[in-house]
Amino acid sequence: MTDTPSPISRLLHYRTERLAKGEAVALPIHASSTFHLPGDPDGSHFYGRNGNPTVETVEAEIGILEAADVVCFPSGMAAIASVFYSVLRPGDTVLVPSDGYYNVRNLLSAQFEPMGVTMRTCPTAEMAEADFKDCKLVLIESPSNPGLAVCDIAKTAGRAKEAGALVMVDNTTASPLIQQPLDLGADFSVMSDTKAMAGHSDVLCGHVATRDAKLFEGVKTWRRLAGAIVSPFDAFLLHRGLATVEVRLARMNANALAVAEAVQGHKAVQAVHYPGLGNDPFHQVALKQMNGFGPIVSFVLADKANAERFIADCHLLSPATSFGGVHSSAERRARWGDEVPEGFIRFAAGIEPTPDLVAAVTQALDTLS
Ligand SMILES: Cc1ncc(COP(=O)(O)O)c(C=O)c1O
Repeated sequence: MTDTPSPISRLLHYRTERLAKGEAVALPIHASSTFHLPGDPDGSHFYGRNGNPTVETVEAEIGILEAADVVCFPSGMAAIASVFYSVLRPGDTVLVPSDGYYNVRNLLSAQFEPMGVTMRTCPTAEMAEADFKDCKLVLIESPSNPGLAVCDIAKTAGRAKEAGALVMVDNTTASPLIQQPLDLGADFSVMSDTKAMAGHSDVLCGHVATRDAKLFEGVKTWRRLAGAIVSPFDAFLLHRGLATVEVRLARMNANALAVAEAVQGHKAVQAVHYPGLGNDPFHQVALKQMNGFGPIVSFVLADKANAERFIADCHLLSPATSFGGVHSSAERRARWGDEVPEGFIRFAAGIEPTPDLVAAVTQALDTLS
């Protein structure tokens, strides 16, 4: 009897298992807007907005990780938007985290509130106890970006669904390798694949995963009608990133934990947020639903000047937004208007050797007043 291979092994061999003699082992980039279609349509490819073989391969690969049907998008925001557009109608209420990724609230207030959709907000830490009455859709972001609050997804999804809401989890800060929102009761698992899944800071992309055929059809139809299509080149980059995501994430998780442990207790650091730390208020709930704690560590320095100096002086940090790439990076989140202290740093661990990264971080902290 053979053991069932893990999702990562199945993902790695998804294409090679299907090859005919003489076919390319690497995934071909089908750079074609249109496909050979004599006679009547028969379900084969015919136009790039409706389907492309390179994109479909990547969707099948991510589908192995999510154990679900997957629709890919040209950014994480497009993926989230597809759920909003396919589910929300005038008169509906959507509940979103007040401390989650800010563009989600911007999208709702710019596009959906004027159409008669009501947005309610709730801090991630209180989401499990929220009032879901009259909600059509509830968005959970756990761990939240940038504060890394964790919410009990199974409990929140259970209560929200009892109240008649659909539940979407933005899994961007974790990924399906660390956390499985659909197993925890969510209807949709969405992610910005721009981050760890593609992993090399060279492409924007995202996906929606669901196990519900009707919800899947709604999202896929919206993509086709709106034309929010991933290019085959970008799909190829995502495919290449997926081949190494497990090993990269393992190093990023280890680096983030090592950095969190190194900065906590340092005299220049006022607070550290990382659900992997034993004394973090969210550690127990994170242990229950996560397998690893992700690449982001947030910590607070005295003020803006100290934070900017740390970022400039730490020689293994690139001063950039985003996370999940191979290079460690950091930024002050107050510069985007997040409700955090001026000295709040979102640190995104890359894949540098752990001792190098910890040494660079502690040396830069040591020079602060
Ligand atoms: C939690 C979260 N969700 C969604 C997004 C949007 O993803 P994208 O930039 O790929 O549109 C981001 C981007 O930073 C994010 O951090």
